[in-house]
Amino acid sequence: MASERSTIFSLLISLLVLMLSTSFSGKCGAASMKYELQDEAEALLKWKGSLLQSEALLHSWSLPTANGSPCNWTGITCNDDGKVKEINLSNCSMHGKLDPLSFSSLPNLVRLDLSINALSGNIPSQIGASAYLIFLDLSMNELSGALPLSLTNLTRISVLNISDNTLDNQEGNPLLDTHDYMTKVCTSTLGYSHYCNW
Ligand SMILES: *[C@@H]1O[C@H](CO)[C@@H](O)[C@H](O)[C@H]1NC(C)=O
Ligand SMILES: *[C@@H]1O[C@H](CO)[C@@H](O)[C@H](O)[C@H]1NC(C)=O
Ligand SMILES: *[C@@H]1O[C@H](CO)[C@@H](O)[C@H](O)[C@H]1NC(C)=O
Ligand SMILES: *[C@@H]1O[C@H](CO)[C@@H](O)[C@H](O)[C@H]1NC(C)=O
Ligand SMILES: *[C@@H]1O[C@H](CO)[C@@H](O)[C@H](O)[C@H]1NC(C)=O
Repeated sequence: MASERSTIFSLLISLLVLMLSTSFSGKCGAASMKYELQDEAEALLKWKGSLLQSEALLHSWSLPTANGSPCNWTGITCNDDGKVKEINLSNCSMHGKLDPLSFSSLPNLVRLDLSINALSGNIPSQIGASAYLIFLDLSMNELSGALPLSLTNLTRISVLNISDNTLDNQEGNPLLDTHDYMTKVCTSTLGYSHYCNW
């Protein structure tokens, strides 16, 4: 039995050595080193390109970046797998819109803090694609229009702060029914003043 086992073992080792030497000496050995820009970095760069005066604020958001990853960029925090889990660009004088940000490219986003900026336009429906969001602070911007129905898809969200914007129909909006799925919500009740339910 023992010798049978060691024969199998040495066979496996030889096979492994053979596979390794083939892959290292082969013509295609360098292919795995090919630089690939991650979806996440690409999505963030596209958004940056749509913002005004973004170069001064987001100078670090540029290429080349190690492993095609945005993890070292200003305001970006990644999880252990190197995926973006947090974006914090609070109080960064950002002018622009949220629509050009591809939330579907950021499926691991857990915290998004874009408070105290000058972001305008709608809260895009696509925000529902970041299904793991727990914390969303868009307060003190110039966002307008209706709240997207896709907010109902953010089933894990516990803090939603959309106060101090000029969004429509917040009072009594069932999307903001905190008993349903959100534990903490701040909205604007009158003009720019804000009101939190906790
Ligand atoms: C991120 O920055 C730190 C220090 O600035 C550096 O040591 C590290 O290698 C960088 N990582 C990547 C992935 O660029
Ligand atoms: C974002 O950064 C600001 C300033 O550094 C900080 O006060 C705030 O707590 C951060 N937000 C989150 C969600 O961590
Ligand atoms: C925003 O940043 C400015 C300076 O950059 C600072 O004076 C102000 O206190 C900050 N506001 C908040 C709410 O952190
Ligand atoms: C919600 O946002 C407003 C405006 O930025 C801020 O004053 C308030 O403290 C925030 N509420 C919470 C609970 O974070
Ligand atoms: C919620 O997510 C489901 C599944 O991804 C999708 O089919 C649906 O359109 C989303 N709802 C809204 C209102 O975006």
